[in-house]
Amino acid sequence: MKISRSTQSRISDINFDKLEFGRIFSDHMFQITYRDGAWQEPEILPYGAITFHPSMMALHYGQAIFEGMKAYYAGENRVNLFRPEDHLERLNNSARRLCMPEMELSVFIEALEELMKLDYPWVPRKIGQALYIRPVMFASEEYLAAKVSAEYKFFIITSPVAAYYSEGFNPVSLTTTDTFVRAVRGGTGEAKAAGNYGGSFLPAQEAGKKGFTQVLWLDALELKYVEEVGTMNIFFLIGDKLITPKLEGTVLPGITRRSVLSLARNWGLETEERKISIDEVFDSAESGTLREVFGAGTAAVISPVGRIHHRGKELALDTQNIGPFAMKMFEAITSLQYGKTEDTYGWIHPVDVG
Ligand SMILES: Cc1ncc(COP(=O)(O)O)c(C=O)c1O
Repeated sequence: MKISRSTQSRISDINFDKLEFGRIFSDHMFQITYRDGAWQEPEILPYGAITFHPSMMALHYGQAIFEGMKAYYAGENRVNLFRPEDHLERLNNSARRLCMPEMELSVFIEALEELMKLDYPWVPRKIGQALYIRPVMFASEEYLAAKVSAEYKFFIITSPVAAYYSEGFNPVSLTTTDTFVRAVRGGTGEAKAAGNYGGSFLPAQEAGKKGFTQVLWLDALELKYVEEVGTMNIFFLIGDKLITPKLEGTVLPGITRRSVLSLARNWGLETEERKISIDEVFDSAESGTLREVFGAGTAAVISPVGRIHHRGKELALDTQNIGPFAMKMFEAITSLQYGKTEDTYGWIHPVDVG
């Protein structure tokens, strides 16, 4: 792999005690171009602006997909990547849905390992902090035609991020909406496509104006079944069962979701991936069987839900604290990520940067 090192690191300008999510980028980035039916030479170069033409197809026809994953400081000269193979598998599923080329696992892993070695000082060291990794692929052909692009760019950029819960757990408040839907069966909901996010901002803004953190999406056909939240999957602990909506093409298959299900099953808990109606959630609260509600996603790992609003009704959960089950799950996943407990699942991809 061709590597052009940055001549002057920007790291001395960074205050690692005040990291704003997604605002600061490490010194290097990975880049590869797809042209003439094949990925060309992979390259690492200093992070910086790229030039493109206004006719670049991604801007017009939306062939743009991405991933979001993290690397964790796991002791001197060791960085843990969390489930990178699964993130690549999801990226390639997104690529297929949008008629984009797939990325090879060996190229992806080598790119990540080289980036970790070069930008190791950017991996923040305090507990809870991490290096956020953003792979992104987009159509780069210059052509105003609503068709599949013949050229693509793939980048990996990285960004040191703060501990999500540095000021304590802050349960989120959610509201459903009857006005908007996120995804329909057969659409692009299960792909991590840039356009899915663009379409979710207006509903999120309206939820925000009403005092809610995020939208709790319901299915598009009946507005009845719970799907997911803006950037996380949702779990309900009802009685002694852990329930999460089934993946039927409209929900993003979260890597954290998959990890939560595996751990819960391993602990002997009964788990169900099935349709769960918003009425069932409210009924279980009324009958006293709803114990905990939490979201799961790369950013926060586990996010307790404190309130759910649906058609004028309000479900009040614990608005101050994280539930004991969600806490146990949070600790189990994060201690694997930081290498504090042995990884018997094969989720950790350690990188020796020494
Ligand atoms: C729409 C959506 N759902 C769920 C998730 C959670 O997925 P993961 O656990 O892979 O971060 C994300 C975040 O990537 C997301 O954007």
